[in-house]
Amino acid sequence: MAEIKKVAIMTGGGDCPSLNAVIRAVTTTAIVKYGLEVVGIRRGYHGLYHKDFISLTLDNVQEIIGEGGSILKSSNKDNLFKYPVRDENGDIVKKDGKIVYENVSHVGVQNLKDEGIDALFILGGDGTLTSGRDFARLGVNVIGIPKTIDNDLACTDYTYGFDTAIGIVSNSLDRLRTTAKSHGRIMVAEVMGRGAGWLTLHGGIAGAADAILIPEIPYDINKVAEKIKADFAKGKDFAIVAVAEGAKPKDGEAVVLKVREDSPDPIRLGGIANVVADQLEELCGNEARATILGHVQRGGSTSGHDRVLSSRYGYAAVELAMQGKFGNMVIIKGDKMTYASLEEVIGQETKQVDPDGELIKMAKALGISFGD
Ligand code: F6P
Repeated sequence: MAEIKKVAIMTGGGDCPSLNAVIRAVTTTAIVKYGLEVVGIRRGYHGLYHKDFISLTLDNVQEIIGEGGSILKSSNKDNLFKYPVRDENGDIVKKDGKIVYENVSHVGVQNLKDEGIDALFILGGDGTLTSGRDFARLGVNVIGIPKTIDNDLACTDYTYGFDTAIGIVSNSLDRLRTTAKSHGRIMVAEVMGRGAGWLTLHGGIAGAADAILIPEIPYDINKVAEKIKADFAKGKDFAIVAVAEGAKPKDGEAVVLKVREDSPDPIRLGGIANVVADQLEELCGNEARATILGHVQRGGSTSGHDRVLSSRYGYAAVELAMQGKFGNMVIIKGDKMTYASLEEVIGQETKQVDPDGELIKMAKALGISFGD
C-alpha cells in the first residue's frame, strides 16, 4: 500500500449542518494523529475540475465545530462524469434544445495527481457519492462520509445533519402551535426530505404534531380531517400537521415545484403544504395556513448530538484511509462506526421509513394520524 502523506476533503451537493464539524475532525485527526498534509477542495467537484484547492490547518478548523454550511462551500451541479459542454464564450452548448454533456472526470483525476493527493474524503449525499464511487473505479483513493438532513442514505442508520434538522422542525412546530392556539387555526408545515419521511416523522413526533404525512404512507385527506374534527369535538381548537415535501395522497402524486434539467436532482419538490391547508380548511371549516420550512432546516448552528456524530464520522474516515480501505463509506450501525462499500451503497434504493415499523406504531399510539 502506497504511503498516505497528503489528503483532500471536499463537500458536494446541498449543504447541511455538521459539514464543518466533519471537516474539522478529518483535518485534526489527519494532522495531529498522523502528521498528514490536508487540502480543502472548494465548491465540490467544481473545485476539483478548476483546481480550486486551499490548505487546511489546525487554525482554519479549530472553531468551526458548530458552524452551519461548509467552509469549503458546495455545489450540486458539477458532475464531472456528465459535464455540460461550454462554447468559447463560456455558454452552455445545447443541441435540439437539450444540453450537451461530456465526461471530464480525467481532469479531476489528473488534478489530484498533480497536487500529490493520496486520498480524497468526499462529504456528500447520494449524488455526490455516486461520483465518488465512479472516481474510486478510476483508481482514486476515495472515502465517502454520508451527509444529509434527509437521513435517506442506504446502509447507514444516521447521517449527520439529520439531528440538527429535527431540532429545527420541532422548534418550528412549537412556534406554529402558539400562533395556531391564539387563532384557532390549522397550521400545516412542509418539511424537506425528498422521497423519504424521516425528517417529517422525527420532527413531527418531537414537535407534537397531530398529523404527519410522509411519502411512505400515502394519505387520505378525509382521514386527516376526521382526526382534526374529532379533536375539535373534544374541545381542542387548533391543529398542527407536518407534511413531507414528497408526501402523496392515496390516489395522486407528489407536488412538483419545478423540473430542472441541469441539476443532478431534476425534480424539485414543494408546495404540498398549500394544497393540504386548502383541503383541510374546506373539510374542517377552520382557517388553515401553510408554512414551508424550506432551507431554514439546513441552516444555523449544529446540535450537540450532530457535533459528536460528525466528529466520529471524521475520525473513522481517517482511520479507514490509514488502513488503506478505500472505495468505502463510513457508516454507523447501532452505536458502532463501521463502513460499507460505495458500490454497495450506491446500488441501493434510498432508505425509507417502514410503514409498519416501531416508530410509526408508537406515533399512532400517541394519537398521531398518518391519514391512512
Ligand atoms: O437533500 C437535501 C435537501 O435539503 C432535500 O431535503 C430538499 O428536497 C433538497 O435538498 C433541496 O435542494 P436545493 O437546496 O437544491 O433546493
